Formats: sequence, C-alpha cells, structure tokens
Amino acid sequence: MTVRLRPATAADAADLFRWRNDPLTRQQSLTTDAIPWDAHVAWLGRVLADPDRLLLIAEADGAAVGSVRCDVSRQGDGMGRGVLSWQIAPEQRGRGYASAMLKAAVADGRLAGLELWAEIKPDNAASRRAALAAGFTCARTAPDLTSWRRGPRPG
Ligand SMILES: CC(C)(COP(=O)(O)OP(=O)(O)OC[C@H]1O[C@@H](n2cnc3c(N)ncnc32)[C@H](O)[C@@H]1OP(=O)(O)O)[C@@H](O)C(=O)NCCC(=O)NCCS
Repeated sequence: MTVRLRPATAADAADLFRWRNDPLTRQQSLTTDAIPWDAHVAWLGRVLADPDRLLLIAEADGAAVGSVRCDVSRQGDGMGRGVLSWQIAPEQRGRGYASAMLKAAVADGRLAGLELWAEIKPDNAASRRAALAAGFTCARTAPDLTSWRRGPRPG
C-alpha cells in the first residue's frame, strides 16, 4: 500500500472538519467536544501559519484518506521533539491506512532528527497497533492516557 504525505492547505478545511468531528475521533481526542466550523477554520489558519506545526494529508490513489500533525518544540539541550496526532477518514478505516501513514511520517525528511511522541488513550487499540508498526514503544502508562516514543531518525 502506498500512502503519500503532502502539506495541508486551506482547501483541506472541509475534509479535516469532517474527520475531526467524527464521533470516534472526538472520543479518542484529549478534548472531546464537537468543534464549530468557525473555530475549525481559525484553528486551521493558525496551524498553517505556524512553522512549528506540520499538518500533513495522507493520500492513497489520489484521494485524501487521513491526516497526521506534528507539533515541534525544542528542548533546553537543543533536542527537537515532535508530538504526533492523527486521524483516518471514517469511511477509510480498517484498511491499514493509519499504519501506512505513520510509517510514512516517521520516514519523512520533514520529521528527521526529531524525537517523536504520541499520546494514545488506553482503549485505542488501532492507534496503539499503528504506533507499534511505525516503531514507537510505550514510554509511560497512566489510567487514562499512554505515552509513546520513537527515537530520532538521522536527517
Ligand atoms: C485509530 C485510527 C487512526 C486507525 O486507523 P485505521 O486506518 O483504521 O487503522 P489501520 O487499518 O491502519 O489499523 C491499524 C492496526 O489496528 C488494527 N485495527 C484496526 N481497527 C481496529 C479496531 N477497531 N480495533 C482493534 N484493532 C484495530 C489493525 O488490524 C491494524 O493492526 P495490525 O497492523 O496489527 O494488523 C482511526 O480509527 C481513527 O481515525 N480513529 C479516530 C481518531 C483517533 O483515534 N486518532 C488517534 C488518536 S491517538
């Protein structure tokens, strides 16, 4: 399966809105309330303008099937850290796209050199398996959230 990653643009607003407000996405997110359209458009504008937030759209056979975002921060020791979050279009789930998308993300030159992290709710088995497939290991377990880490890949 080939999944290609490209930067999101304002033209992806409607797809991202639909995927973000899907009930399973809300349930598996840190903030579970539905997002109004105006707030979504403002959020997308901020993300696209922020050099430390990389929002990528996954495409398969020319169709947008999901998205992965990397929020980058620099630690005191200069180490770059990226926190990943992702979602797959509801109608495209269960076809291996999350695993393929995360594998493509960790191999992407735009994320090279970053220590990568992801926060996954304990009941999110599909995300856990996709993270494992992309080389993440569980670094911390709390009752309501697990933290996953992948060491930096050289640039
Ligand atoms: C979680 C999510 C990204 C998974 O996407 P997906 O494309 O359906 O996942 P995949 O088809 O790549 O499956 C990944 C793995 O999980 C397994 N899986 C898929 N759906 C599953 C389910 N409902 N329950 C258990 N395992 C599941 C697959 O078999 C696969 O495992 P394998 O590699 O060992 O065979 C998608 O359901 C989604 O967008 N959910 C809402 C948003 C969300 O949870 N975001 C992540 C927050 S951390």
